[in-house]
Amino acid sequence: MKIAIPKERRAHERRVAASPDTVKKLIALGLDVVVEKDAGLMSSIPDSAFQAAGAKIAADATETYADADIIFKVQRPLHAAEGDIDEIALIKSGAILIAILSPFTDGATVDAYAKGNIIAFAMEFMPRISRAQSMDVLSSQSNLAGYTAVIDAAQEFSRAFPMMMTAAGTVAPAKVLVMGTGVAGLQAIATAKRLGAVVSATDVRAAAKEQVESLGGKFVMVESDETGETEGGYAKEMSDDYKVKQAALIAKTLAKQDIAITTALIPGRPAPVLITREMVHSMKPGSVIIDLAVESGGNCELSQAGKVIEENGVKIVGHYNVPSRVAADASALYARNLLNFLTPQMDAENKTLNIDWEDEVIIGTLLTKDGAIVHERLTKGGN
Ligand code: NAI
Repeated sequence: MKIAIPKERRAHERRVAASPDTVKKLIALGLDVVVEKDAGLMSSIPDSAFQAAGAKIAADATETYADADIIFKVQRPLHAAEGDIDEIALIKSGAILIAILSPFTDGATVDAYAKGNIIAFAMEFMPRISRAQSMDVLSSQSNLAGYTAVIDAAQEFSRAFPMMMTAAGTVAPAKVLVMGTGVAGLQAIATAKRLGAVVSATDVRAAAKEQVESLGGKFVMVESDETGETEGGYAKEMSDDYKVKQAALIAKTLAKQDIAITTALIPGRPAPVLITREMVHSMKPGSVIIDLAVESGGNCELSQAGKVIEENGVKIVGHYNVPSRVAADASALYARNLLNFLTPQMDAENKTLNIDWEDEVIIGTLLTKDGAIVHERLTKGGN
């Protein structure tokens, strides 16, 4: 059985869906691994490292996809209207595609998988159960995004993070506010603390308080009986009354901060706007906002995807694809997530694929099978 690792072709993508470590393990599972030439280059993995791990290097996309039974990718493959190569057309009927497929952003590709009889798994749909933690690409990548957000902030900030008492005077510690304390936010708190900043954080989920405090952050939250947490542990959109109270709290807190890192997301909806233009104007010149939610509409009213802008002396950073900015580590962890997803579906003795279609992680991620769209979130509408 052949597993293919194509080069990522979408803009701003530096990651790759395999590492030399996972290649070795895929081979041990009984798979022939084919990696496209230069696929790992942006993640500091030369072809020779993949070869040394036992992979065959294919010259181009056609050779990589040819006869592949399984395809590991980071982002969804290109279709005809998107570029020179129609990657979906290169995937053989009956093959398995495992990647971040963004079905709500790009429904046309999902139709194309069904039409091409491709068995497509969207890794971002992974159920948040303990057993699936090692397969959870949102967690592995958000964690690195949270870290990178702080490093990006430090780079844009014209002052130091830690307090320094020197003969020439004292440097005050930077004040950092983290908004949204899921996986990315918690790592941002930990990283900012390590750099010596004074950190506070806010979230709509009351459960976040303990986690923030255990990392040494101060939790700032709206006083309300309204719970922001769904049964699945995610945030929901809050009432208008809550939003008014939250805006007042943020306005008061933000004016005293040097750095704001925003990570607030609501699954299936645009990101909530937490920082208005007026609030930006209340911040001190030299302050920095890092908007990790920029690709979902942004937590700051002014942030622009792919740009660093300046408003009234405040820098607002909206980098695309933040995990890709630490591509080597992001690829290594992502590759592990995919390996951990595939391994239980392989028959170790016969070295063949034996998918358990009743498995919760399979049902939770399977988009298309037998020429049809099968995922509940797509067939029943809503998300
Ligand atoms: P996310 O990326 O969906 O959202 C980021 C954060 O923004 C969340 O903490 C959310 O509550 C917050 N937020 C949303 N709207 C907000 C608003 N208006 N104001 C302030 N904050 C707002 O979150 P992520 O990182 O996916 O984590 C969601 C939950 O899933 C957490 O409880 C996390 O601990 C849990 N989780 C569970 C896993 C598992 O059991 N396998 C794995 C990873 C996360």
